[in-house]
Amino acid sequence: MERWKGRVALVTGASSGIGRATASRLGAAGMKVALASRRRSALKEVARQVQDAGGEALVVPTDLRDVDEIAALFAAVRERWGGVDVLVNNAGLGRHAPLTTGSTEAWREMLEVNVLALCVCTREAVADMRRRGDEGHVVHVASMAAHRVPPNSGVYSATKFAVRSLTEGLRQELRELGSRIRVSAVSPGFVETEFAEVFWGDPRRAAETYGAYKVLEAGDVADAIAYILGAPAHVQVHDLLMRPTDQPS
Ligand SMILES: NC(=O)c1ccc[n+]([C@@H]2O[C@H](COP(=O)([O-])OP(=O)(O)OC[C@H]3O[C@@H](n4cnc5c(N)ncnc54)[C@H](OP(=O)(O)O)[C@@H]3O)[C@@H](O)[C@H]2O)c1
Repeated sequence: MERWKGRVALVTGASSGIGRATASRLGAAGMKVALASRRRSALKEVARQVQDAGGEALVVPTDLRDVDEIAALFAAVRERWGGVDVLVNNAGLGRHAPLTTGSTEAWREMLEVNVLALCVCTREAVADMRRRGDEGHVVHVASMAAHRVPPNSGVYSATKFAVRSLTEGLRQELRELGSRIRVSAVSPGFVETEFAEVFWGDPRRAAETYGAYKVLEAGDVADAIAYILGAPAHVQVHDLLMRPTDQPS
């Protein structure tokens, strides 16, 4: 991680779970970390963690469903630090919204945050990285649901299959451009975060999801992202799959 010391990271979905742990991890590596998601007060807490860990933090409350807010997010990072060197496309959500009965709004939200916002953030970050010496790293937080379809997850899983395509598509484009920018994905199984409560809209179902066996901690995924970013320049991790040891599928 030494090469990233003093460089600029943007972590989306930094207010909770994997994004929060990743922002702290990058702060501890001496990075300047921009924190984006909707909840300002939660982002401010994470900013304090980043600062306590030795990094600098910039809080930019952003609803990633709004492309104007994404534009304002990148403008804020450019104004403060000149642009982005590392983008962690982590923001995402699932909703229990079956293909036969789910609401259009729930499907739209998953597609807009998990897929469309990830594309817009990637385009903007790559423009920054090319301007700043054509280095940089884009890390997509995909899922084991990008590799098989778990129960109750048709649309969520579709968004994560899309993230796999977007990882390989960007890799091909960057290579074609002769760029040194790398792109990677990380695909976790169950991680104890706010995800299950958002998915089910019910804290009891969330407790069941995480209570059956020891699931991953957000810090386990942050460690995997640090490994991906810390790999030597000639090593491009494509997709790092990780499950709780006891997870059945
Ligand atoms: N937990 C798991 O088991 C698991 C497994 C595999 C993959 N993942 C993936 O990991 C990523 C992080 O999820 P998590 O598990 O850490 O869940 P989490 O604790 O619910 O965090 C989700 C983050 O996304 C942000 N977000 C959601 N909608 C947003 C919007 N419209 N605009 C801006 N930010 C938004 C939330 O922030 P605000 O509410 O403040 O906006 C929050 O910071 C997601 O992409 C998820 O699909 C999770």
